[in-house]
Amino acid sequence: MKQLYSKEVIAEHVKAIGQQINCDYQNEEILLIVVLKGSMLFAADLCRELNCPVTIDFIRVSSYGDSTVSSGNVVFKVPLDTDIKGKNVIIVEDIIDTGNTLRALYHHLEEKQPASLKICTLIDKKKRRKVEIEADYAGIVMDDGFIIGYGLDLGERYRNLDAIYLLDPNNLPTEGDA
Ligand code: PRP
Repeated sequence: MKQLYSKEVIAEHVKAIGQQINCDYQNEEILLIVVLKGSMLFAADLCRELNCPVTIDFIRVSSYGDSTVSSGNVVFKVPLDTDIKGKNVIIVEDIIDTGNTLRALYHHLEEKQPASLKICTLIDKKKRRKVEIEADYAGIVMDDGFIIGYGLDLGERYRNLDAIYLLDPNNLPTEGDA
């Protein structure tokens, strides 16, 4: 196991993304759509960096299940219950990898006619993209490697770690490492 990004480094990236959003939207109202479950910690920290009027809703989408490999089959497990028509929407993701999840979600939301639709991600694995989708706001850009912590899981564990670790299947971290 190797720590890739400390909680201090993560906080710097979250702050920088928040500043960009504040700058772009000024006093316009925005709706954050938080993609569960992985984005929960990122969204909780990001929304406290924002100084424009903010509302928040959640959607749950999954394509990995308990696997470390994307099935490519995006399942909407908890649908959105907010009417987003005419609103400035920002999708909040923890990570974009193949892009399958975001592409499906983006098209799903686009059909609901928001005034604007942007993508925000803490981690962008640009080189692993299998479909064309780009983040409007991205924090950490990294290459390959399965990562856990700060919302990211392996079989639903390790989301509560406050740093991000590169997974070594032979040496898994414990929650006590947080
Ligand atoms: C993760 C992550 C993104 C998606 C990115 O979700 O939160 O939504 O995978 O991968 P992709 O770009 O290859 O589609 P996951 O399906 O693991 O669900 P979770 O957030 O509940 O852990």
